[in-house]
Amino acid sequence: MLAKGGGEIDFVWAAYIEEPGPAEAIRYGELPEPEPGAGEAVVRTEAVAVNWVDTFVRSGKYRTELPRPFVIGRDVVGVVERAAGGLREGERVWASTLGYAGRQGPTAERVAVSADRLHRLPEGVEPVGAVAVLHGATTALIGLERVGLSAGERVFVHGASGAVGSAVVQVAVERGAHVVATARSDEALARLRRWGAAEVVDTREQWSSPVGVDVHWDATGAIPLAEAVTSMASRGRVVVTARREEDPVPAFDLYLRDVSIVGFTLSHASHEEQARAAREVNRLLAEGRLEASVAHVLPMADAARAHRLLESGQARGKVVLVP
Ligand SMILES: NC(=O)c1ccc[n+]([C@@H]2O[C@H](COP(=O)([O-])OP(=O)(O)OC[C@H]3O[C@@H](n4cnc5c(N)ncnc54)[C@H](OP(=O)(O)O)[C@@H]3O)[C@@H](O)[C@H]2O)c1
Repeated sequence: MLAKGGGEIDFVWAAYIEEPGPAEAIRYGELPEPEPGAGEAVVRTEAVAVNWVDTFVRSGKYRTELPRPFVIGRDVVGVVERAAGGLREGERVWASTLGYAGRQGPTAERVAVSADRLHRLPEGVEPVGAVAVLHGATTALIGLERVGLSAGERVFVHGASGAVGSAVVQVAVERGAHVVATARSDEALARLRRWGAAEVVDTREQWSSPVGVDVHWDATGAIPLAEAVTSMASRGRVVVTARREEDPVPAFDLYLRDVSIVGFTLSHASHEEQARAAREVNRLLAEGRLEASVAHVLPMADAARAHRLLESGQARGKVVLVP
């Protein structure tokens, strides 16, 4: 095929949708090679994470401007093939803000990305492990910044085996908090102890929300707000990042205990918040302090299967796609 200027068009393999829909709407095929605009680098993709938000964008549950065809995904680690900004060819970089608000996602062999959205990956950090922590870690860092976590505070994390919960535990422990974390497998409980959680709760047994909590982060969205608010210490903060249904707020307990409920969506974080989080992600990755449990590494051609694994609840850990 000929390009507008008369030259041959090159293609990249990509996982994309024409319209929002079920996982079956994902196609794997050739799209024209991404043309970098001003200030954009071309990155050769090494690993792409599959996050819940990717399934929401794909299905249309999260309404956001999408180019058509739309290449799915949000987080990527790759190597700069065509330099831009201060980046050099051959450098390993990551981005975690692709695939929404008019930007293409990264589930393709190559992707054009504005250089100011790219961060150098620290030396020696491998791509699959790194891409698996990006979404959870930026969520944890910005969320804990919003609630002003201080050393010595008691932080309760429910669903601590998941991407967000795992990152909240690791970041809060690193900040000197006393972390109480839940999980429902021996492997996950052992991981939480290894990461330094002061108390771990096995939710396969009888359990209840701990009391006297300063920061309450239920990554599953299952604990009723009434239970969360009444378990808080005075001036406690309940972080809400996931919720399945309407949930009445216990206003009386809220003001009598000086408790705040902080709703937070990563996609709305400011550029400055994202930049601060990116610096922290890199510091923690370089120090070996951020780990995710990776359940499946699949070829990009299996992107539809990856979405089905997540949506069916079968992926007990992160799903990562590689070219
Ligand atoms: N607002 C935001 O900015 C933001 C950002 C990121 C994510 N989120 C949302 O946050 C939620 C978590 O995301 P994630 O990436 O961490 O998901 P994830 O990796 O799938 O983790 C989900 C966690 O919830 C646990 N869980 C699920 N159902 C449970 C149940 N019935 N009882 C006990 N534990 C249960 C899972 O335990 P197992 O490991 O044992 O299955 C796992 O620990 C999703 O709803 C996502 O959309 C919001």
